[in-house]
Amino acid sequence: RRLQINVELPEEQAAQKLKIGLYFATWWALNVVFNVYNKKVLNAFPYPWLTSTLSLAAGSLMMLVSWATRMVDAPKTDLDFWKSLLPVAVAHTIGHVAATVSMSKVAVSFTHIIKSGEPAFSVLVSRFLLGEMFPLPVYLSLIPIIGGCALSALTELNFNMTGFMGAMISNLAFVFRNIFSKKGMKGKSVSGMNYYSCLSMQSLLILTPFAIAVEGPKLWAEGFQQALSQIGPNFIWWLVAQSMFYHLYNQVSYMSLYQISPLTFSVGNTMKRIFVIVSSIIVFRTPVRPINTIGAAIAILGTFLYSQAKL
Ligand code: 3PG
Repeated sequence: RRLQINVELPEEQAAQKLKIGLYFATWWALNVVFNVYNKKVLNAFPYPWLTSTLSLAAGSLMMLVSWATRMVDAPKTDLDFWKSLLPVAVAHTIGHVAATVSMSKVAVSFTHIIKSGEPAFSVLVSRFLLGEMFPLPVYLSLIPIIGGCALSALTELNFNMTGFMGAMISNLAFVFRNIFSKKGMKGKSVSGMNYYSCLSMQSLLILTPFAIAVEGPKLWAEGFQQALSQIGPNFIWWLVAQSMFYHLYNQVSYMSLYQISPLTFSVGNTMKRIFVIVSSIIVFRTPVRPINTIGAAIAILGTFLYSQAKL
């Protein structure tokens, strides 16, 4: 067997870092916009199963058009590819709908504080289900992450069990999604952008029947009329914005995941939440207690310690 060693020149390393940095900045900015429109829509139209489905549908449509017009090269896929995508799509569907249900019940900031515990879920899943061992500092960093999230949840002014559980389920589902996705993308010619597009299409097929069963066209039609009379035609633009921005931020996040590990991805995702939490508290004038903010800060600091311990 021949041993192949890839040596990266310092300039190549710097260029790679810059590229990831740009991906991260774009991902986070798009996510802030998504969160604002998503919550505006959910406040006026509390049907998270439909809005989750629309986000996937918008992304699927945008990508089908991009492939048809050759703006983006369509991926070469076979039946095996779609079969191996199924567990990823199931995890993505569960994680997506659970987070959206959570955000329909509680403040955006609360969902994201709980979701800042995602790296802790990543370590626990890797340790207990994949048998991966970590150095002691990694386990120690879980104490502030879990403790900070718990403190924040306990002191949350608008605590709601469905909102809390939705964010927790989303954490678990997305850890599986990221680990399976990384494995699925390895050695395949499908790019991060196209991988996420295929994932979106399969998730759409999975979610649609559940959305119809849980909420259904009758409630949607009534809710839509009500939202339209309350907000006016702008409501339609909010719906379009939340759906399109959902796809765009996820697409960019998958372009990053293609280049980095699922753990680095989770840490990047938690750093993103600082911007989402702060901006949503300002936009929605969310009442927060100092102790609640301290909990969030401890959790996020824990994630930073965790990322250092992983180095
Ligand atoms: C969703 O609807 O999928 C969530 O808002 C996504 O959460 P994320 O911040 O982990 O991408």
